[in-house]
Amino acid sequence: MKRIKASIIGFGSVGQGVARVLLRKKEELSSMGLDITVVAVVDSKAAVIDQEGVDLAMVLERKGSEGIVGDERITGHDVIRNIEHDLVIETTPTNIDTGGVGLQNMLTAFSKKRHVVTSNKGPLALKYRELAALAERSGCAFRFEATVGGAMPLLSLIRDTLTGNDIISIEGIFNGTCNYILTRMMEEHATYELMLAEAQELGIAEKDPTYDVEGIDAACKLVILANAIFGMNATYKDVHVTGISRITPEALMLAEADNYVIKLIGEVSKNRIQVAPRLVPIDHPLAVGGTLNVASLQTDLAGPVVVVGRGAGSIETASAILSDIISIYKD
Ligand code: HSE
Repeated sequence: MKRIKASIIGFGSVGQGVARVLLRKKEELSSMGLDITVVAVVDSKAAVIDQEGVDLAMVLERKGSEGIVGDERITGHDVIRNIEHDLVIETTPTNIDTGGVGLQNMLTAFSKKRHVVTSNKGPLALKYRELAALAERSGCAFRFEATVGGAMPLLSLIRDTLTGNDIISIEGIFNGTCNYILTRMMEEHATYELMLAEAQELGIAEKDPTYDVEGIDAACKLVILANAIFGMNATYKDVHVTGISRITPEALMLAEADNYVIKLIGEVSKNRIQVAPRLVPIDHPLAVGGTLNVASLQTDLAGPVVVVGRGAGSIETASAILSDIISIYKD
């Protein structure tokens, strides 16, 4: 049995999802020869540390009842620096202006030769090159499937299943909140503001929903694809972005009358990164509804490949994190 000592840095919806999934999949992991022992869990206020393994059920319970994971007043960064472990599960919130604490956490993790699996888009949208180079120099794995499309398997699909193909372009829906708003506005003929409030209630919108509706969140995901798949050196400021805040129920109804839907479509290829609302025929593979994400890839050998999945959600995002963890240790 391979014993992997891990930390969970950030214990909001995604971090808690990871804890739940590790508890739920303990036996399956065991049968793969993997024992993932979480030695530290950190939220924005405190930490719980135990080299023998933190009791995840108890931490979830305490977070739920008291809003805090433990009693130790120590930051995620200190845990990464000072507590001996192999793998950092970085699930702090995205900050796309500075990269936030997540950026420092990742840089420190690599400098301490710890692998990183993350759902945090900010550091990758700003400093992908630097992070990837440091990971490589340190001999560390750096996996981030959860940053693009949540549970929708895109990066691993390209890396593993489509390996050997040239990816010519990727287009699709990369923001569940916008997709939900547009789908519901069309179904209910209701206003954008009302549907945004619904999306926020579902817990899929960013803390500042402007990032969703102005297309910035989708732009960050495209930048991650541009850098990781197309070898570009882009930041989200390089993306031409138009959001959905000016789309009216009337525009959606007019589109529907002609058998079209309006979708916020992101597109990346070697010379173009763009996010904008587009008319999509109602029976087109990109016309998926609700909170779903979709990506349509053009490849040189396999031709077109389309993948659809849940782009957000606690357990769904944790699913992508789990598969990244397993892939590191299987490799
Ligand atoms: N706010 C994002 C979305 C969450 O709606 O898709 C996942 O990145």
